[in-house]
Amino acid sequence: MAQNIIIDTDPGQDDAVAILLALASPEIEVLGITAVAGNVPLALTELNARKILELAGRADIPVFAGCNAPLTRKLITAEHVHGKTGLDGVDLPAPAMPLQAQHAVDFIIDTLRTEPEGSVTLVPIGPLTNIASAFQRAPDIISRIKQIVLMGGAYFEVGNVTPAAEFNIHVDPEAARIVFGADVDLVVMPLDATHEALTSRDWVETLRALPNRSGPAVASWTDFFERFDKEKYGSQGAPLHDPCTIAWLINPGLFTGRRINVEIETKGEFTAGMTVADWWGVSDRPANALFLRHTDRDALFALLAERIARLP
Ligand code: BDR
Ligand code: CA
Repeated sequence: MAQNIIIDTDPGQDDAVAILLALASPEIEVLGITAVAGNVPLALTELNARKILELAGRADIPVFAGCNAPLTRKLITAEHVHGKTGLDGVDLPAPAMPLQAQHAVDFIIDTLRTEPEGSVTLVPIGPLTNIASAFQRAPDIISRIKQIVLMGGAYFEVGNVTPAAEFNIHVDPEAARIVFGADVDLVVMPLDATHEALTSRDWVETLRALPNRSGPAVASWTDFFERFDKEKYGSQGAPLHDPCTIAWLINPGLFTGRRINVEIETKGEFTAGMTVADWWGVSDRPANALFLRHTDRDALFALLAERIARLP
């Protein structure tokens, strides 16, 4: 049976690829997409989510706008990586499908209350503001969640937005602390795993040559965001962070990691948003997450190409 998920997202080119992978995969049923402010402001992330769904021919999936700023901090965005629109690289038409009137946080709460207990997985691939807000407002939903599979954090790779912190956690550390502190089955896809998910030229060209519109769109998005990471890391390609969460749901065997304790630093002068991951088990704090570490890169990119080929 397909796994029911809600994707909480701030698209973002790699968010877009994650959404496309989910839509192309029979193992996954997307109940809704909830947008959050992150890579770009909320007005753009919700718009981008609708554009991505229309690209994939899935205007039937509802899109909800959520929080437009972190719980307590000022929003930090990442136009320097993702471009002014958040989805630079491809010019997609203005979406015809409507934005839902309901707030994303209410949608998350209602869905978890009405779907069978333990049947809905949350996949946050942006700052955790919407998820934490839902937990604050309706703590009863926490025990009804099947699992949370999120992209965020880092330990061996440390930070990509500050020397100590990964972007999604750094934007809203208070929200991350609430989510990591909740009694929930948590799977964390940090930079340690996603920095092994590096695109290659051959893969990009394979996608560009697909006889559909989604393949060439993914290739052009990759062209755009690669330029930043290639320059920054001196690497051949760029990490496709967010699709790793969906790939994990489809085939967890693509990744290896450990169940460990992970705490979120909210106060550090230089380390706000750091994921303090007890990889070596040196504290007596109980494990609260499966923290992934390595990625089977070739198998991941083969899966992505095969699935994106199925889309319009
Ligand atoms: C994360 O930050 C965003 O820029 C990406 O979409 C990804 O979710 C990587 O640090
Ligand atoms: Ca993202």
